Amino acid sequence: MSSTPTFPGEAPFDPAVLARMASAMFSAPPGAQFPANIAPPGSPLVSPAGFGPSVPGTPIPQGQIPGANVLPASPTQLPSLANRAPALLPHAVAGNGVPDTVLSVAPAFEPRSGGVVQGVPQQMGAAASPQAASASPFYFLNHSYGHPTASASDGFAIHDPFAGLAAQPALPPSPPSAPAGRDAQFYFVDAVRLPSGFVTPAKPDPRGPDAVPLAGSGQHPPFDVHAVRRDFPILQERVNGKQLVWFDNAATTHKPQSVIDRIAYFYEHENSNIHRAAHELAARATDAYEGARERVRKFINAPEVEEVIFVRGTTEAINLVAKSWGGQHVGEGDEIIVSNLEHHANIVPWQQLAAAKGAKLRVIPVDDSGQVLLDEYRKLLNDRTKIVAVTQVSNALGTVVPVKEIVELAHRAGAKALVDGAQSVSHMRVDVQDIGADFFVFSGHKVFGPTGIGVVWGKREVLEDMPPWQGGGNMIADVTFEKTVFQPIPNKFEAGTGNIADAVGLGAAIDYVNKVGIENIARYEHDLLVYGMAQLGAIPGVRLIGTAADKASVMSFVLDGYTTEEVGHALNDEGVAVRTGHHCAQPILRRFGVETTVRPSLAFYNTFDEIDRLVTVVRRLAGQRRTR
Ligand code: ALA
Repeated sequence: MSSTPTFPGEAPFDPAVLARMASAMFSAPPGAQFPANIAPPGSPLVSPAGFGPSVPGTPIPQGQIPGANVLPASPTQLPSLANRAPALLPHAVAGNGVPDTVLSVAPAFEPRSGGVVQGVPQQMGAAASPQAASASPFYFLNHSYGHPTASASDGFAIHDPFAGLAAQPALPPSPPSAPAGRDAQFYFVDAVRLPSGFVTPAKPDPRGPDAVPLAGSGQHPPFDVHAVRRDFPILQERVNGKQLVWFDNAATTHKPQSVIDRIAYFYEHENSNIHRAAHELAARATDAYEGARERVRKFINAPEVEEVIFVRGTTEAINLVAKSWGGQHVGEGDEIIVSNLEHHANIVPWQQLAAAKGAKLRVIPVDDSGQVLLDEYRKLLNDRTKIVAVTQVSNALGTVVPVKEIVELAHRAGAKALVDGAQSVSHMRVDVQDIGADFFVFSGHKVFGPTGIGVVWGKREVLEDMPPWQGGGNMIADVTFEKTVFQPIPNKFEAGTGNIADAVGLGAAIDYVNKVGIENIARYEHDLLVYGMAQLGAIPGVRLIGTAADKASVMSFVLDGYTTEEVGHALNDEGVAVRTGHHCAQPILRRFGVETTVRPSLAFYNTFDEIDRLVTVVRRLAGQRRTR
């Protein structure tokens, strides 16, 4: 595989050649001949005006932390996401070549000089400076991002005329993943599995009851959380005099500098509406937007880029499916199945549909750990079941739901299936083809991208059969007062001007996640979660809500003698941000007899030290209550 994107017969690119080629393509008449790997205007992604030509690129191996693919899985006992992901998803470890649709004629991004990024503490600005980047051993620190067409080393074969000119220097190996003496504290020895499935130290630690569990095998994934953290400027914020600890990742995630820069770059150099006007910036904006769509396709392993529809977020995504597909296919007496775990966004639209149509909403119950009961689910399925809509990861409990099995059973019953990936995409490899659902939906802001952008992926044949749910510009091919002919997918479902810049930002977020490596993320977070659950669970008076054997990110709990708000405030006083409340998932909390929980939720930029800070506060509260 070449690491330099090329067109046939022209390698490497000369910017002027590329610009000429782009102009020729944009002005070419329908039916004009293009090189075999260039989609001509008129392809489904191209406007009547001829913008947005699709240009598959040379596959480039996925950017990875050096050595990332040769390290063993986590030594912990919990059923491991890290162990599971590659097995489920062979493509994930095979080196992802991304045939990107981007053809950019925009100039290369120039990092701001001076090293101080506006609004960012001095040290972060320095870290983000070109000097810091070149001195950094962390390949994902501030290179290429902000460029509209990130370099080949990003794992995307984007047609960047400057990629070959700005090759990244060879990178030294990553430094140790934690300061000396600290890294050995992250794993468990003599661990035992609790009935809940969580792993905790088996016998009293001779160092005392509060000692942090010791390392097991000493083998660590090549994941450097300290390097990652430098990419997220907001993590340097101080709250109540303390450095921010962000444990509210299930509500929203923070954005790496690369995403922030990419959005700024869009407004500085590319801003235009898409698909319409015959001018340079419209071409840039369209390329950037469609490039983001392709990144999403690749990220979730969707077969076709036209199956990816941009929406505002998961809520809008589910509403789209409920209103469009549901409006067409659900009738009186039909049944819709959701699980007890669902976020309100995966309950209310179905409830509204059921009410409008005289259909019934049925609920898969969960066991006491918070895992769905598949046998009960089987009993719910019948020939009236039209759709099954389940979350892949519970936002309130963190349960990882066996969606593949649920989808398969739904299909056997003749029903469609929707998987809500809002809480899964940032924590584990998602492969929509492997899951097999008809729809998969997620939000950009939960995966280090901007708010206001999300995705519906649907199978082509299902989407093509659905009516548009909103009407207006962009989604039409022809309008008269008598009738309207709609665009093919995805435009059919993207009425009006979309959130172009934030779609592009989502593309940059996906680039970032790809660079760190989703398997690295899953493995590291798994260890964090095991550690956090064990530490919290050992505090007298703490009740963990949601202890399924397979979990991601979320550590919901209540503390005897305190309201969840009191715990949240005490944590905030120490700079630790958690969500308290019902988490937009009241039915599942009520299943456990509570109205609210304290919900720390993890991302890959969190550390074991941060968990210690959380645990210290909770332990102090528990101790104070007991001595009153
Ligand atoms: N769905 C988001 C949460 O769980 C808002 O907090």
